[in-house]
Amino acid sequence: MKNLTPTMIPGLLLLAIAVVLVQCKSEKKPPSSAAFFEVRKTTYGTTPDGQSVDQYTLVNGTGMEVTVITYGGIITRWTAPDKDGNYDNVVLGFDNLGQYVAKTPYFGAIIGRYGNRIAKGQFSLAGKTYQLETNNGPNHLHGGVKGFDKVVWTASPQQTDTTASLVLTYLSKDGEGGYPGNLSCTVTYTLTATDALKVTYQASTDKETIVNLTQHSYFNLSGNFKKTILDHELMLAADNYLPVDTTLIPTGTITPVAGTPFDFTTAKAIGRDIDIADDQLTKGKGYDHCWVLNPADGLRTVASVVHPATGRQLEIITDEPGLQFYCGNFLNGTLPMPGGGTYGYRTGFCLETQHYPDSPNQPAFPSVILRPGEQYTTTTIFQFSVAK
Ligand code: GLA
Repeated sequence: MKNLTPTMIPGLLLLAIAVVLVQCKSEKKPPSSAAFFEVRKTTYGTTPDGQSVDQYTLVNGTGMEVTVITYGGIITRWTAPDKDGNYDNVVLGFDNLGQYVAKTPYFGAIIGRYGNRIAKGQFSLAGKTYQLETNNGPNHLHGGVKGFDKVVWTASPQQTDTTASLVLTYLSKDGEGGYPGNLSCTVTYTLTATDALKVTYQASTDKETIVNLTQHSYFNLSGNFKKTILDHELMLAADNYLPVDTTLIPTGTITPVAGTPFDFTTAKAIGRDIDIADDQLTKGKGYDHCWVLNPADGLRTVASVVHPATGRQLEIITDEPGLQFYCGNFLNGTLPMPGGGTYGYRTGFCLETQHYPDSPNQPAFPSVILRPGEQYTTTTIFQFSVAK
C-alpha cells in the first residue's frame, strides 16, 4: 500500500463496495455445525378484493430457505444445496402477488379441495349428486375456479430447537365451489435441520364430503429456469400407472409400467423416452399421469430425482397411494420469469402426492370420502441432499 495516492481512494472504495455486493448476492453459505431456526415475516401485497397477504421465510441456518405466501400457501422460493454447497432457488415462481393473481399454472400452491380431475365435475355421495365447476375442458381440476391455491390462508409461525414451521389454516364453507360440508383445513410446512420440508395436511368436515389435498411446486434442480428438466434422472417406486382418456381422466384400468415409457422403477432421464410414439404420451402431451405407488404401511420413499450436473437430489416420502408426475407440458413461454424472460416448455416438473384422479367416480380406487368425526391426515416429505 506504500504507493497509495489520494486519487486512488475513491476507486478502492468502489472496489470494496463491489466485493461486498458480490458476497451478498452469492447464496453460498458456510457450512454450519449447529443449525439455527428462524421464521421471517414481511407483508407481501393485497389481493384485488382487499385482503392483505404476508410472506414468511423458514430458515434452517444450514442454507435452506423456504418462502411461503399466505395467498394459496404458495411456496415462492426454495433453496437447495448443490455438490459445492451452493444453495440456489429450485422452484418456479413469480415476482409479485399481481402475477400470481393474474394467471398461474398453480406454481408452488396448496391444491384443494380436490387435487387433480373429477370427470365432468360430477360425483354422488350419500344418494345425492353434486355438480362442481368445470374449469378444465369438460372436467373439474384442482378445486375449481377459486381453489385453495387462490384463497388467503391464516398463518401462524412456530419454532423449536430443531424445526421452523408455518401452520396455515383455512375454513372452506359448505357449498364453496359446489362441495358439501364446512371443511376445516390445516396445512403445516416444517423445515428440518437436514434440508427436509415436511408437509402435513389435516381436515375435518361437518357433512360427508370428498377431499384430496396436495402441493404443486414446480422443480428445476439445475437452479437455471432457462433450461428444461429433461436431463433430470427420475425414479418412481411404482409398478403401475393410470392410463387416461383425451381429457386426462383415468380409464379406470391399472396398467403395469413394465415395457412402457412410464417405467421409472429404475432411474432414467425424464427426457429419455418422452418422444417415443405412445398413445398415452400423446394423450398427456408428455408425462401428465398418476402413478400407482407401490403400497406400504405408512411413510415410504416413492420418488427420487437427481440433477447430474449439480448433484442436487430430491426425494419424496409420503403415505399417499398416488403421485401425479407432470413435466411442464403446458409451459409455453408466456409466463414471466423473475429477472426477465419467460418460462419455457418443460422447464419445471411437479410430483404431486395424492389419491387417484376421479376417485369419487371409480369405486375400485382408494376412497377420498371424509365423514363428520373423522380426521383427514396425510404427510409428504420433500428431502433434499447431494447425490452420492
Ligand atoms: C396438473 C395437471 C396438469 C396441468 C397442471 C397445471 O399437474 O395434471 O394437466 O393442468 O396441473 O398446468
